[in-house]
Amino acid sequence: MSAPLLSVSGLSVAYGGVPAVEPLDFSVVAGNSITILGANGAGKSSLLRGLMGLAATTGKITFDGIEIAKLTTADRARHGIAFVPEGRRVFAGMSVRENLEVAAHVNTQERQRRLDAAYALFPQLAARDSDAAWQLSGGQQQMLAIARAMMARPKLLLMDEPSLGLAPAIAKDVVGALAAIAADTTILLAEQNASLALEIAAHALILDRGRLIFEGSADEIRRRPELLSPAHAAS
Ligand SMILES: Nc1ncnc2c1ncn2[C@@H]1O[C@H](COP(=O)(O)OP(=O)(O)OP(=O)(O)O)[C@@H](O)[C@H]1O
Ligand SMILES: [Mg+2]
Repeated sequence: MSAPLLSVSGLSVAYGGVPAVEPLDFSVVAGNSITILGANGAGKSSLLRGLMGLAATTGKITFDGIEIAKLTTADRARHGIAFVPEGRRVFAGMSVRENLEVAAHVNTQERQRRLDAAYALFPQLAARDSDAAWQLSGGQQQMLAIARAMMARPKLLLMDEPSLGLAPAIAKDVVGALAAIAADTTILLAEQNASLALEIAAHALILDRGRLIFEGSADEIRRRPELLSPAHAAS
């Protein structure tokens, strides 16, 4: 079996010494996207932020054969990790095209190829090519944030709550695009909306108040909905 793309061992995340994620182990094999499920405050975002070097961690993080736990965020990005945080951060004053172009540090020809691919994935962005990002709807801004991350051609995409605050129909469009991305880029997806998340990833972790309480298949979670129920969290 080939080595996992990402492997964490004894990884914890804390803010000013206050733990948000207790030491946990898991690994992600290239091509097998995983979703992190859990209620408000479970530690999903903290885990993603720790992996990206945006929150303090202890423990080991091995990515694509190298130990990255001590690397800066920029170096982790250079090694092939991209992060789309909650809240659709885009450059509001720049056009859609400019937002995408500045995210690809490659030659003009390759940049154009990636832009074409982004527009093929998100036709709504192609239609707004020269509009400023602030003029886009919330769903389109989320699409732009994802498309920006993909301009770097990451090996691993860390995606935080893509459906948050979106109308169901728009959230479905965004999830459909992520499912298409997952066909050739590995995604580690944090979501509260389990049914949407499990359309993208066949494997899931469940966090409960900073602890990893389940690791298994989407099918098993569908069979055991109590895993995600408030009653379980309170037990
Ligand atoms: N910047 C921060 N400083 C201090 N504590 C934080 C910070 N961010 C999160 N926390 C705490 O860490 C814990 C985990 O929060 P986190 O945001 O990772 O959960 P989450 O699963 O992403 O929740 P949500 O579904 O609401 O996004 C919570 O107790 C939260 O209060
Ligand atoms: Mg969160």
